[in-house]
Amino acid sequence: MARSVKIAVVGSGYVGLVAAVCFAEIGHEVICIDNDSRKTEALSNGISIIHEEHLPELLAKHNGHKISFTTDLAAAVQASEVIFIAVGTPQSDTGHADLSYIEAVASEVARSINGYKVLVEKSTVPVYTNEWIRRTMERHGVEHDTFDVVSNPEFLREGTAISDFLHPDRIVVGSDHERAAELLDAIYAPLTKGDYYKRADALPGRFNAENLPPLLHTSTKSAEIIKHASNAFLALKISFINAVANLCEAAEADVVQVAQGMGLDERIGNRFLSPGIGYGGSCFPKDVAAFRSVAEQFGLDFGLLSEVEKINRGQQKRFFEKVRSALWTLRGKKLAVLGLSFKGDTDDIRESPAIDLIRLFLAEGCSITAYDPAAIDRTKEILPASDKLRYASDAYDAAEGADALLILTDWKEFADLDLDRMRLLLQFPILIDGRNLYKPSKVTKHGFSYFSVGRSVARPVRTPKASVQKLQTV
Ligand code: UDX
Repeated sequence: MARSVKIAVVGSGYVGLVAAVCFAEIGHEVICIDNDSRKTEALSNGISIIHEEHLPELLAKHNGHKISFTTDLAAAVQASEVIFIAVGTPQSDTGHADLSYIEAVASEVARSINGYKVLVEKSTVPVYTNEWIRRTMERHGVEHDTFDVVSNPEFLREGTAISDFLHPDRIVVGSDHERAAELLDAIYAPLTKGDYYKRADALPGRFNAENLPPLLHTSTKSAEIIKHASNAFLALKISFINAVANLCEAAEADVVQVAQGMGLDERIGNRFLSPGIGYGGSCFPKDVAAFRSVAEQFGLDFGLLSEVEKINRGQQKRFFEKVRSALWTLRGKKLAVLGLSFKGDTDDIRESPAIDLIRLFLAEGCSITAYDPAAIDRTKEILPASDKLRYASDAYDAAEGADALLILTDWKEFADLDLDRMRLLLQFPILIDGRNLYKPSKVTKHGFSYFSVGRSVARPVRTPKASVQKLQTV
């Protein structure tokens, strides 16, 4: 029978909150700490502060029993055996990860420590951070044998974060001390030994009582590098296919076919080969820059990563020019924009290429009507509505009277639009799709000119008179 571990999770952002709720779900006693009392109060009242599938149910299930929320870090440290640090590591102006929040947590833990504790790096941090945490603790007078520092990176994706946590491709435990590694093994035992999957209330997914997720033990430094290297590699895959997409456009080939042909090779794999308007979000842009700067600190030039970033930036610019070439001039044009978040299934707009593009279009004199299923409120905080920017109640409201329809985020509902209805609402039947959500032949059948990424422009099939009449009666 797996044992219940007393866990503190510091930080209630995406990583911290999801980890905290999932630790409670697999049977541990969790205190989640944040210095923002509005967040801890909302969470204590069962309000999920981020848009994430399954989070509201799990919060309701465990709140007040297996999980509690507080601003009191010292008390939480004293009540816990293991302290997961999941605070932000924002990008500084130089591209380095700013680790001041991590240092502040380590100092506070040092001041309140009351027995052996394991500090776990859950946030993405540069290699050697474990060493700095250890030195910070010792500088505050904590004996080196009363604590250990472990790296246990999180690989969850926003939108599928809970499922990624409970059905992980792998769990990485980077530890240089057996005692700490054993404690981490105990925390993940419900998943690695399968007890969780035997439960009737387990979240279904790819693993079950017979097929269990792997746990990899590494050194602390290797685990720190695994996280950065994994994110940088995924970003590289995206930039690679974006560069191939640009070649396909020039050579009149179809990048979707090319990616399919590449992805069938098991060594390459078909995931993260969707071209678009570039990657965004809170991880890839920050982590690629941080990994490059880690290499620099060791005197190494990881020039490949600079190329990844360059291609990513260029992708937005290319899409902007694609819209210009579809509409000839941009000043005074009315654009319907579908999608604000950095990808579908999340309300997160951090580093969203959609937001950057909206800014470029507004600067060029366009007016915009934008719609997103979840991210409008967050976007309004940085881009308030104005005479040039209106937020619509749905995709069809956004399209009314627009010169073109732009898809900037891969929300599923944007792949299922009623194209006949759209065609009647738009001033001109022009669809410019930055996420390749449609088959060109499908869109052109509905009378649209279709511009996508890495494929030739598809022009509408001439609509026979009878079907035009039918369309007008819809
Ligand atoms: C990522 C990693 O996937 C995850 O393992 C890590 O823990 C955190 O960073 P996330 O930022 O939630 O997760 O999003 P992800 O689904 O990876 O997408 C990142 C960006 O890449 C998005 O802007 C997405 O639209 C873009 N993307 C992804 C592509 O452009 N093409 C693809 O094929 C895949």
